[in-house]
This record gives sequence, structure tokens and C-alpha cells, in this order.
Amino acid sequence: MKVKRTVGMITLLLSMGAFLFATKVSAADPRNGAKIYNIHCTNCHGSNGAGAMPGMPDFRRGQSLFKNNAFLVKALEEGRGIMPAYRGLLTTQEMLDVIAHLRTFQ
Ligand code: HEC
Repeated sequence: MKVKRTVGMITLLLSMGAFLFATKVSAADPRNGAKIYNIHCTNCHGSNGAGAMPGMPDFRRGQSLFKNNAFLVKALEEGRGIMPAYRGLLTTQEMLDVIAHLRTFQ
């Protein structure tokens, strides 16, 4: 009886651990990034990433995207020029997802 309960506890802890691992340390998901982009970014950056007005980076040509993820996450957290700060609006994971989406433009 006692052994069974211990085994049950261990199984529960292991599955909770697997769940946390799956949600917290997941790789960037460009498909989720595309959804976020369509909600928050298309107005300025255009649905194809070319930039909807002058002075925008052209993501199709990789402009700004040679910078690493840490730098780009910081740019999103703080905002740049007229671009609003996304700290508190998007999680770091969501920023990484949307950055992964930016890197798919061509
Ligand atoms: C209100 C318009 C606007 C919105 C909305 C906007 N951006 Fe921007 N974004 C800009 C402008 C303007 C720049 C160029 C700023 C500069 O270089 O001074 C820029 C620059 C960038 C850069 C390059 C940053 C750098 O430091 O080189 C990235 C990456 C970026 N935007 C991603 C996004 C993403 C992702 C979203 C949606 C979550 C978004 N932007 C929403 C206007 C916008």
C-alpha cells in the first residue's frame, strides 16, 4: 500500500516535471510567432515583412535580423523609435516565437 502510493507520487512528479520542461524550455515556434506578428506587428512591418511605411527595416532582406536573438528580444522589450515597448505585453517566449517568424520572411 505504502509502496504503491510512493510510486504514484513519483509518477506524478515525473509527469509534472515533463510538463514544465515542455512548456518552459520549448524551442521557438514560428507558427505561434506568425499569429503574434499578425496581431501586433503587421500595421508597421507589413504582412510580408517589407515594412508598411518608409524607415522600416525590410525583414525580407534580413535587415536587422543579423542581430542575435538576445539583442532583438531587448529591442522588443524596450521599443525602438516609434515601435512600442512590448515588455509586459509579450512574454520572452512569445518574443522568441515572433523573431523566429521574422527569420522566415523572404
Ligand atoms: C508602430 C509601428 C511598429 C510596430 C507596431 C512594430 N514595429 Fe518593429 N519597428 C518599427 C520601427 C519604426 C523600427 C525601426 C526603429 C529604428 O531603427 O529606429 C522597428 C524595428 C524593429 C526591429 C529591429 C530592431 C533593431 O534594433 O534593429 C525588429 C526586430 C522589429 N521592429 C520587430 C517588431 C515586431 C516583432 C513587432 C510586433 C511584436 C513590431 N516590430 C511592431 C515600428 C514598429
